[in-house]
Amino acid sequence: MAHIKAWESLANISADKGEYFPDLNLQVDEWNKEEEKFIKDNLTDSKKSVLDLGCGDGRALAWLKENGFKNLYGLDISKICIARAKERLGATAKLTLGDYTRGFPYNRKFDRILLMGNTVIADLKEPSKLIKTIKNGLGDDGLLFITCWNGKFLTKEFFDSYYGKLGLAGTKIIDVENRTMIIGEGIVNKWLLEDELKKIIEAGGLKIKQLRKASIGFLCIESK
Ligand SMILES: C[S@@+](CC[C@H](N)C(=O)[O-])C[C@H]1O[C@@H](n2cnc3c(N)ncnc32)[C@H](O)[C@@H]1O
Repeated sequence: MAHIKAWESLANISADKGEYFPDLNLQVDEWNKEEEKFIKDNLTDSKKSVLDLGCGDGRALAWLKENGFKNLYGLDISKICIARAKERLGATAKLTLGDYTRGFPYNRKFDRILLMGNTVIADLKEPSKLIKTIKNGLGDDGLLFITCWNGKFLTKEFFDSYYGKLGLAGTKIIDVENRTMIIGEGIVNKWLLEDELKKIIEAGGLKIKQLRKASIGFLCIESK
């Protein structure tokens, strides 16, 4: 079962700071801009349908709305996030409260699926199961876009300069060598290395079309 309470606490803290991933240090500032450019450069056909998994406060859906996309969907387990995303996007996006590890609550396929934010895959016990669900949810020429932080960069210094400043109770590094920490008393977050990320995607049956290293993370595109 996903850690709903911990996700709600994180959403609350982020809400206070104005963004899901507040720019608390220069590295995150740069990374947020790279993610935005990656999504805007690669999602250019506004007729495509897009599902954002773990859409948070609707950050990425808002970029697409700006570029004329109308067929937008967001799914998140946090009530706070869905409420904030609704406020931000109005009726442009269909936003649903739900747990994507239990399958998708839709009777349709999507042209594009987004999975953004480093904790989303790494928190799961069987991450490739989610990739399989995504594969089933993609149309024939569908693409999955993943953005996540790179395990190489989880140092004590980075942790202190980001999570330390975020001030979320219960957040601590448990094993720097294995790139593992706990966020908000529940979310076990293991930052992935490139090979680990590739294995998860391939075990889920998707093909990697692009896996690019950006400042502190990976920007990847997968097809069926
Ligand atoms: C690290 S945040 C990223 C938010 C957003 N994707 C972004 O990039 O701004 C991860 C999001 O996934 C949501 N989430 C975590 N586990 C989930 C699950 N099992 N089902 C649906 N949403 C989930 C959290 O509530 C949170 O909003």
